[in-house]
Amino acid sequence: MGIVLGIESSCDDTATALLRDGQELLGEAVASQADDFAVWGGVVPEIAARGHVAALPGLVERVLEQAGLALSQVEAVAVGAWPGLIGSLLCGVTAAKVIAARLRIPLIAVDHIQAHLAAVHLGGTPVRYPLVGLVASGGHSHIYRCLAPGRMELLGGTIDDAAGEAFDKAAAMLELPYPGGPSIDRMATSGSSAAFDLPRSFIHDDTIRLSFAGLKTALLYQVRGPLGRDALSLDDAGVRDACASFQSAVVDCLVAKLLLAARQQGVTSIAVGGGVACNRALRQRLAGEADRQGLTVHLPAPRHCADNAAMIAVLGHHLLERGEISGYDVVPLPTGRAGPRAVRRG
Ligand code: KG4
Ligand code: ZN
Repeated sequence: MGIVLGIESSCDDTATALLRDGQELLGEAVASQADDFAVWGGVVPEIAARGHVAALPGLVERVLEQAGLALSQVEAVAVGAWPGLIGSLLCGVTAAKVIAARLRIPLIAVDHIQAHLAAVHLGGTPVRYPLVGLVASGGHSHIYRCLAPGRMELLGGTIDDAAGEAFDKAAAMLELPYPGGPSIDRMATSGSSAAFDLPRSFIHDDTIRLSFAGLKTALLYQVRGPLGRDALSLDDAGVRDACASFQSAVVDCLVAKLLLAARQQGVTSIAVGGGVACNRALRQRLAGEADRQGLTVHLPAPRHCADNAAMIAVLGHHLLERGEISGYDVVPLPTGRAGPRAVRRG
């Protein structure tokens, strides 16, 4: 339905995108603050918010230029409104409101987590519903039954850390640069996944539960001594082995629970979104399992797995088609609308 401008500002990346008729990406722009936060070893919320304020006007201009369109040709604005860092969300939501109100066009407040799974629609291949989808990012590792874009029921997920958070913390233990996921992914390619014996919580039970706290602690003790306070004693090859072993444990757990959920739900269509879905070992494992088990795996392109505005625009398109638009008085929420930690057993 027409031309949708997507705006994403839930964490540290600021992004805009223009999407025509839910299919055709006319422009995409991202301003990443990752390099700034490498110094801090993580996101500093107030600095992130200031970064969004600085970047947003230029990023809107940039996608319009890429598309060869004027702002007046935009027909709806979709914005990631929850969950996220509240200061960061306020920037994108306020920008979206100003544009929507000025042009008198629909405003669509979008759930960031739902958008990570709606990103499967950006690849141009038809998506089969119902599907079982995993969102694995810095703040989430949850599995959902999805009936349509933005129509999801929580099946279960992590009871402690998110997978991305675990990657980031493991990388910090191994003195690798932030963000940790991409660092571990790179180092793991030349390491041995059998070098360290690491736990895989809940892997043999029939619950849709994940836990990465024990894995993280096990790695800490193995690389920094029994109290976890020693200096890192591994050489470069040892760090590569630790990366491969840690990554393999996370991937085993994510894949096992996603496949279990698909079996329990009786679906043959699965999807993964969120920054961790960029992980090459995870992508390879999923492709292999899909072949072996006759499943259809929907994996967005890596740039649409990490935070991006195309996923916001595509979900906005589907919500708009269903008439699910927001009032101009909508407010962002840090935790989202549904508690992410509720877990159903069995
Ligand atoms: O979805 P995202 O961009 O932002 C959130 O909504 O959180 O996810 C960021 C997370 C970070 O924890 C980052 O380390 C992780 O995704 N990540 C990866 C990879 N690329 C990003 N984790 C594992 N392997 C990767 N290649
Ligand atoms: Zn995200």
